[in-house]
Amino acid sequence: MTNELDRSGNGTPLDVAEGQYFTINAPPKALNTHLALAREFIDRHAEEGRRVALVTSGGTTVPLENQTVRYIDNFSAGTRGATSAEYFLDAGYAVIFLHRQFSLLPYSRHYSHNTRSFLDFMGEDEQGRVVVNPEHQEQMVQVLRQYNKAKKDNTILILSFVTITEYLWQLREVAKLMRPLGSNALFYLAAAVSDFFVPQDRMTEHKIQSNEEFTEKNRSADGAKRPAARTEGKSLVIDLEPVPKFLKRLVDGWAPNALIVSFKLETDPSILVEKAKYALNKYQHDLVIGNLLTTRKWEVVFVSPEGEKWVRVPSHRRTKSSSGIESLVGKAGGANGNGRAREHEFVGEPAIEIESLMIPEVAALHGRLVAQGGSKTQHRPD
Ligand code: PMT
Repeated sequence: MTNELDRSGNGTPLDVAEGQYFTINAPPKALNTHLALAREFIDRHAEEGRRVALVTSGGTTVPLENQTVRYIDNFSAGTRGATSAEYFLDAGYAVIFLHRQFSLLPYSRHYSHNTRSFLDFMGEDEQGRVVVNPEHQEQMVQVLRQYNKAKKDNTILILSFVTITEYLWQLREVAKLMRPLGSNALFYLAAAVSDFFVPQDRMTEHKIQSNEEFTEKNRSADGAKRPAARTEGKSLVIDLEPVPKFLKRLVDGWAPNALIVSFKLETDPSILVEKAKYALNKYQHDLVIGNLLTTRKWEVVFVSPEGEKWVRVPSHRRTKSSSGIESLVGKAGGANGNGRAREHEFVGEPAIEIESLMIPEVAALHGRLVAQGGSKTQHRPD
């Protein structure tokens, strides 16, 4: 008999791994407040028969210390999630937007990206009042109308996370609240989720000391366990544990009747489709959207039980003409199929947002699932 927990999720049933994960890693302080908001939002839209999409967005962090000074992060700015949320609202969904705090938000994203300050959109009129610059009026009024409509109709609920544990707690609890929606629920998992983490019981309480005179202070919170991030000599050694793949629990347990869309991010074009198919087969959900880091705004591949389909920004609209840049950075991921783009077509910003093509496809798939009565097996071809 041993008291040590097997946290790998391998060789133990995933529901055991779930129990262990959520026992060791405490819920976020704001959980109950967020859940009260979510419950009210879901009940209202369920009553009105509206479809509800939970859109996850941005990257999760992995703190190295309990009183966190240092953490591991990833690249995601939340563009995919924030943009997709707008198109889901356009398509008539109510959206729960579970995002990394301070990452991009629907609508305001148009004015908060990192190449321009929102102040660049403003000017001053003759009376000294702040006004929107004339060249931005037309687009801003459109965005403002959509934003005000979503607020007036109460069709968007914004929740946030920072760490992997805050993300997983909320994903699980909100998914359970969404169960009564049945097949009217959709999960669109665009967040970049950490695969490795430091469990709370192996975290140092205080800031990791690098000065050798103080390294004996690097102890885990309960003092008994070797900290997962520690100094050895002058080096920082980080010994991370795998985060159980909770996608399986979402599919089988937390949201058995919902449409579940996951993403597969890769950097090597030669394995993208294979990995997407592997994920679909392993987790038995509805759709994997594969994307490559460098081309994700221009092309994605939909892998579902219905088959494999590339969705691409049409070649004549690949880059904004105003960008004028033609250097060879992005590399075509679409690989072998027809209409392969030239590398220079993946530079700058695409002329249209690929999410404007993706979300109608996802909504149509959802429509087919609902029409078939929501059973996951029914829309899978033999
Ligand atoms: O925000 P942007 O800059 O616009 O970038 C968008 C994006 C590239 C982040 C997005 O399009 C995307 O691909 N998101 C998913 C990234 C990701 O986590 O990929 P993955 O291959 O590591 O994981 C695959 C799936 O497993 C994900 O759906 C994830 O929810 C799930 N997962 C991951 C880790 C984990 N421990 N448990 C999981 O269930």
